[in-house]
Amino acid sequence: MLTLNFTKFPVLKTERLILREHDLDDAEALFALRTNETVMKYIDRERPKDIFEIKDFISRFRNGYENGDNLAWVIALKETPDKMIGSVGYWRTDFANHRAEIGYMLHPDYWRQGIISEALKRSIDFGFNEVNLHTISANINVENDASRQMLIKHGFVKEAHFKQDYYFRGQFLDSEIYGLLNPNH
Ligand SMILES: CC(C)(COP(=O)(O)OP(=O)(O)OC[C@H]1O[C@@H](n2cnc3c(N)ncnc32)[C@H](O)[C@@H]1OP(=O)(O)O)[C@@H](O)C(=O)NCCC(=O)NCCS
Repeated sequence: MLTLNFTKFPVLKTERLILREHDLDDAEALFALRTNETVMKYIDRERPKDIFEIKDFISRFRNGYENGDNLAWVIALKETPDKMIGSVGYWRTDFANHRAEIGYMLHPDYWRQGIISEALKRSIDFGFNEVNLHTISANINVENDASRQMLIKHGFVKEAHFKQDYYFRGQFLDSEIYGLLNPNH
């Protein structure tokens, strides 16, 4: 059986980035990201109402890690590790099937600099080599071509297109599911 239990939070580094645990001090940056309509355009989730809701969200990430339910990293540049610019993480872990869903977002000031690509590569390597996931999935809004291209670039293939399976703000939306197999299995 797969587990997400580590003796300490797995901080990851890449050439330019540090991927670290969420902290309550990230609340303002995370609130800014999750209320930014450019970022949230294709993320069909209610926006946080206030900073208290975001702090609760961060506490749930931290508890999720403590309980071994999920693993979410803050993305920061190495030279400014306290300044959150984005996030990447595994959310819906399906332990029995060694499968988890990856998600990511980045502040628009940093788009098209290869940052999510760098973070995604590192977190996929971690998911396959350290967590021993068998498959990684991603669920996108069908209009989100930037995310689709990102997934394809990293070797994901389209596994499904669900018709109107997701209800958000009065509409039933389609979803596209992408998947990546652990190349070492
Ligand atoms: C999608 C998103 C994460 C891309 O992050 P990014 O750091 O700008 O992406 P990168 O610079 O690493 O780009 C990697 C690849 O993704 C694809 N890509 C990224 N942005 C794209 C865009 N606007 N249009 C088309 N393809 C795009 C390209 O294939 C790109 O490779 P290339 O530069 O060689 O062409 C960012 O736009 C974002 O945060 N969007 C809002 C949140 C979101 O939609 N998250 C995904 C939810 S499923």
